[in-house]
This record gives sequence, C-alpha cells and structure tokens, in this order.
Amino acid sequence: MEKKNLDWSNLDFGYIQTDKRYVSNFKDGAWDDGCLTSDASIVLNECAGVFQYAQTVFEGLKAYTTEDGKIVTFRPDLNAERMIDSAKRLEMPAFPKERFIDAVTQTVKANAAWVPPFGSGATLYIRPYMFGSSPVIGVSPAAEYQFRILTTPVGPYFKGGAKPITIKVSDFDRAAPHGTGHIKAGLNYAMSLHAIVTAHEEGYAENMYLDAATRTKVEETGGANFIFITKDKKVVTPKSSSILPSITRRSLLYVAKEYLGLETEEREVTLEEVPEFAECGLCGTAAVVSPVGKIVDHGREICFASGMDEMGPVTKQLYDTLTGIQMGRIEAPEGWIHVIE
Ligand code: PLP
Ligand code: COI
Repeated sequence: MEKKNLDWSNLDFGYIQTDKRYVSNFKDGAWDDGCLTSDASIVLNECAGVFQYAQTVFEGLKAYTTEDGKIVTFRPDLNAERMIDSAKRLEMPAFPKERFIDAVTQTVKANAAWVPPFGSGATLYIRPYMFGSSPVIGVSPAAEYQFRILTTPVGPYFKGGAKPITIKVSDFDRAAPHGTGHIKAGLNYAMSLHAIVTAHEEGYAENMYLDAATRTKVEETGGANFIFITKDKKVVTPKSSSILPSITRRSLLYVAKEYLGLETEEREVTLEEVPEFAECGLCGTAAVVSPVGKIVDHGREICFASGMDEMGPVTKQLYDTLTGIQMGRIEAPEGWIHVIE
C-alpha cells in the first residue's frame, strides 16, 4: 500500500478528508449492518434532533504506525465503553462495543494510506460520532440515529508540539456538578467555544476550568485532563465527577506506577495548592502529554519550575513511556494495543 503524498511532519491538528468513512443507521429500535462509504456529506431533515437540541456524542482515538510497520490503535475498547456511557446520558441508543471496535478497524484499514509513517510525529485521528437524525420539535430524544467514523491525519494539537504552553484560569464554567461534564457530548464543546476564542484572543493556549459549585478546585481544560507532579515526584490528577474520564490520564497513572515506579494520587486539587507543584501537563488523545509552563489566574502568574523551554523531567518520562507503548517501542500492558494490520 502506497502512502499518500503529504508533508507528514508539518501537519497541524486539522481536517483532511480521507477516502472512506463508516456509517450505520439506527431505525425501528435496531442498528443496521453498517458499511464504509466514500461520501463525506450527510443529508438530514431540517428538524433532525442533532440540529434542534444538540443530541450528539463523539469519541476520539488515534491510529499509529509502529516501529515495525504495523498499524495499531490504543485501547479502543475504552472509547467504545465511554461512548456507550455518553449515549445513555443523552437518551441515545448504545452502539455495541464489539461493533465499535470492528467499525474502527474497518475504517482505519480502508484509510491505511492516510496513516502517517512511523517517526513523522503525526498520527491518524479517528473520530467516531453519533447523532439524532430523525425530526423532533418537542423536547424529546430522536427516534433514529446515525453512527459514523471519520478519520483525518493530524499533527500536534498545540502549536510548537512539546513546547510548554501558557493557559488561563477561565471565568466561565465548563460543567455543572450534576451535568454532562463526564461524558463526551458535543454540547460541552459548543459551550466552551466562547471561552476558548476569548482565551486565544488574549494569547493563551487553553483554559483551566474550575469546579462550578465553589470555583476553588481544578477540573480540566476544554480538551484534556490535568496531571501535576509534586516536588517529590508524585503524580497527582484531579478527581471530579464532572470531568471527562480521560483514557490517556488513566493510562498515564498506570504507566507512572507500573513502569516508572512513581507514586500516584487521584484526589481533589485546589487552585490554591497549584503553585506548590513542580510540573504541570495536559493529557488527552489530541493533546498526548502537553507541558504547561505557566497558568495565569487574573494577573497572578503561576510559573512551574520546569520553565517555558522544555517539558519537566517527570512529564517527559511519562510522555516517552506512553508514546513508546503506543508506537511499539516499549512492551504494552495486555490488551492495550489493538493491531489493525
Ligand atoms: N477532557 C476533555 C474535555 C476532552 O475532550 C478529552 C479528549 O478526549 C480529554 C479530557 C482526554 O480524554 P482521552 O485521554 O480519553 O482522549
Ligand atoms: C480528543 O483528544 O480526542 C478530543 O476529543 C479533544 C478535542 C479537543 C480535540
């Protein structure tokens, strides 16, 4: 299979249309068999649930080319499970786990020429998504749904790749205590758009959101969870029922403990204690592990000892080990790597 002629090493995190996408429709209480299609357009009724009441959920994972030339995905079973949780919360039908994994496999295989080569720094981003496709006008769930998977080759989420970023403490809230912050619903991202545009205009790469109830505890950013490193090298991640249960964060905690022998702690983290940490990073599929050099809280600058030039040493160890596992350089825990071909 010949790869597409792209400048792989200089891709940003954008949409490039690839050859095939997966589609399955839910009608009369059942999913159809699903298939791959070349048609990137979707035609829907003007009153479809997704347009009127934002009934849509999504996932994000990546396909990697390993050192020995295989194409693999990372823990797709966890994306399948999280999408089921997301769907349930928005009164949507679950797309079965085994079918999700099979659909990811089919879509990546059909777009193998778009999977960036090993060592390019790029990956194939996989975006499964589902939406209410039949008309609704009273506030109620749709009767029919479409599940799709698109793929697009991507580079780093934050410009500059591994360079530390500066973020701000947001004046906006991302998620309510008993709301939808823990699922991957499009509505969470729609309501973050004004906050991210504002942050970008002010020169920040992302927002740190606080808990909506007290505005004293660290939650997450618009598209990634936080990891903090204490001065004695403990890995600390914020615990909250209104943040997305990041697969990268869960994997990093395992890697920290089992591969690096570090102590880990999942607990509430207050904004007040943030200056005590030695390192800070963002973690997620798109973000991978992105170092944070500075957090600005209404004029107060919180600068981490790791500085603005490079990743802190523990963050770097975590990054190297996780990406080593994903790219096949380091042996993965049982079941983490799903070989496509
Ligand atoms: N938090 C938010 C709000 C996200 O959008 C994402 C991205 O998926 C994450 C965290 C990281 O989750 P994961 O590591 O599963 O990609
Ligand atoms: C991902 O990391 O997969 C996400 O969905 C985050 C998004 C901000 C791109």
